[in-house]
Amino acid sequence: MPGETWVLYLLLLLGLGLGTQQTLPPPCESKIYCHGELLHHIQMAKLYPDDKEFVDMPMSRAPEQVLQSFNELANTHDYNIPRERLLDFVKTNFQPKGQELEAWNPADWKDSPHILQNILDPKLRAWAGQMHQLWKNLGKKIKPEVGAKPERFSLIYSKHPFIVPGGRFVEFYYWDSYWIVEGLLLSEMSETVKGMLQNFLDLVQTYGHIPNGARVYYLQRSQPPLLSLMMNSYLTHTQDMAFLRNNIETLAMELDFWAKNRSVSVSSGGENYVLNRYSVPYGGPRPESYSKDVELANMVPEEQREMLWAELKAGAESGWDFSSRWFLGGKNPNSLSSIRTSKLVPVDLNAFLCQAEGLMSDFYSRLGNEAQAAKYRALRAQRMAAMQAILWDEKKGAWFDYDLEKKEKNPEFYPTNLTPLWASCFSDETVADKALKYLEDSQILTYKFGIPSSLRNTGQQWDFPNAWAPLQDLVIRGLAKSPSPQTQEVAFQLAQNWIQTNYEVYSRTSAMYEKYDITNGQPGGGGEYEVQDGFGWTNGVVMMLLNHYGDRLRSGS
Ligand SMILES: *[C@@H]1O[C@H](CO)[C@@H](O)[C@H](O)[C@H]1NC(C)=O
Repeated sequence: MPGETWVLYLLLLLGLGLGTQQTLPPPCESKIYCHGELLHHIQMAKLYPDDKEFVDMPMSRAPEQVLQSFNELANTHDYNIPRERLLDFVKTNFQPKGQELEAWNPADWKDSPHILQNILDPKLRAWAGQMHQLWKNLGKKIKPEVGAKPERFSLIYSKHPFIVPGGRFVEFYYWDSYWIVEGLLLSEMSETVKGMLQNFLDLVQTYGHIPNGARVYYLQRSQPPLLSLMMNSYLTHTQDMAFLRNNIETLAMELDFWAKNRSVSVSSGGENYVLNRYSVPYGGPRPESYSKDVELANMVPEEQREMLWAELKAGAESGWDFSSRWFLGGKNPNSLSSIRTSKLVPVDLNAFLCQAEGLMSDFYSRLGNEAQAAKYRALRAQRMAAMQAILWDEKKGAWFDYDLEKKEKNPEFYPTNLTPLWASCFSDETVADKALKYLEDSQILTYKFGIPSSLRNTGQQWDFPNAWAPLQDLVIRGLAKSPSPQTQEVAFQLAQNWIQTNYEVYSRTSAMYEKYDITNGQPGGGGEYEVQDGFGWTNGVVMMLLNHYGDRLRSGS
């Protein structure tokens, strides 16, 4: 029902335009982890440097008791609770974060996976061995008590152990997991991957979609949809058709969520097209960044606050939290308060869905269900036509996010502008060479430490000068699809640049980071929290590049 969703949204916008304050539903139900006085007072007191700390703490007693004891405390102090009393309250009613998880040593981990033999440079080979070891540090398992008393935890219980990104991210995340899965498969850990896939499928069964990450406060938003792709990678390594057969309907259910809840119609040249966008119709500050969201909202008129919060959540859903890519609405294009995520039709989201529709038609035809295979083939064909009409720019040789309000493409550079190449969502073989020219014209190839997330330096973490592993993969494997040796060579060079940045930092710090600064090849910065190490998808991308180009990559110049 894409049309209906859009009409509802328009009504919502009209309501706001008329100055009536719109109250959106809260980001999830829990009166402790998602919204309410308790959360508000504790987060606004900034008891911890990172707001995520409190919402990750398990309760020591039943939620009703915790709420009752908070009400007593609040009444005693007339809602002006001294900081020390709040700290005592948290110590009495909650346990330190992380109690509900235990370290897990993956059972299918073994020495010397085959990939190591494909890497000629001895230093890079030794380093790949270290990446392989790192899965053991990032393995987590949820304690049974979370399953027995889920109401006491913000963590969502999952049956199977999993690999997490690392640092402050001790639970699993949706799109991160795709690159982690690729790395695990190269480490020949397909049982671990199967368990992770089963966890995602269970989430779809329970909630109808995959939340951003496995916490209740992430429930109303998803993340870039890569579940079908993870399934495909798993199948390529295992040929486990029984697993596909058992879960194909659940994969379809996940795509239905994107079709029903995240569609938007766009008209151009007298034609109507349906594409997708990130959009989260829930209000209130993000529980895990609560005080920051409240302070940001104080900068805008009161009647715009709920909408601002909804747009922040949509930004989180995009995986790009945050970036000037979404700051198109307000007066200041460098300010987070200008965020308008849902007003854009993003290239990457539509490329991911186009790829997923192609995979689904392939899955169904392998299972002998031609009717469903044809349905997904048609969906993919429609989407490709829509992307060609709305997102593709022949003159520039790339795809661009479409601005629904201005009714034009956003001409800025983002690595995601080339996602359709990576996703094999194009029909004309020459697009990879056009894309190469686009990168040259945008002067992207002059950066030797990696491809920046954008060309704007705003202090946000998904902007210049930060570079992220998944975005390198999108561009590198996209260009590598070109039949032209010259374009393939550029793909290799970009891989070499990224490997050297990661290797050099690892040699000095013995750590892998979530992002890097391409002006100096150091760990990145900016955004809402300190740079984190670990780091799931960074390790996965390094392993993919070492596997693909292992005969040519070098550790030093
Ligand atoms: C998706 O839409 C349906 C019906 O419109 C709604 O019930 C459901 O809560 C939505 N899902 C999310 C995660 O917002």
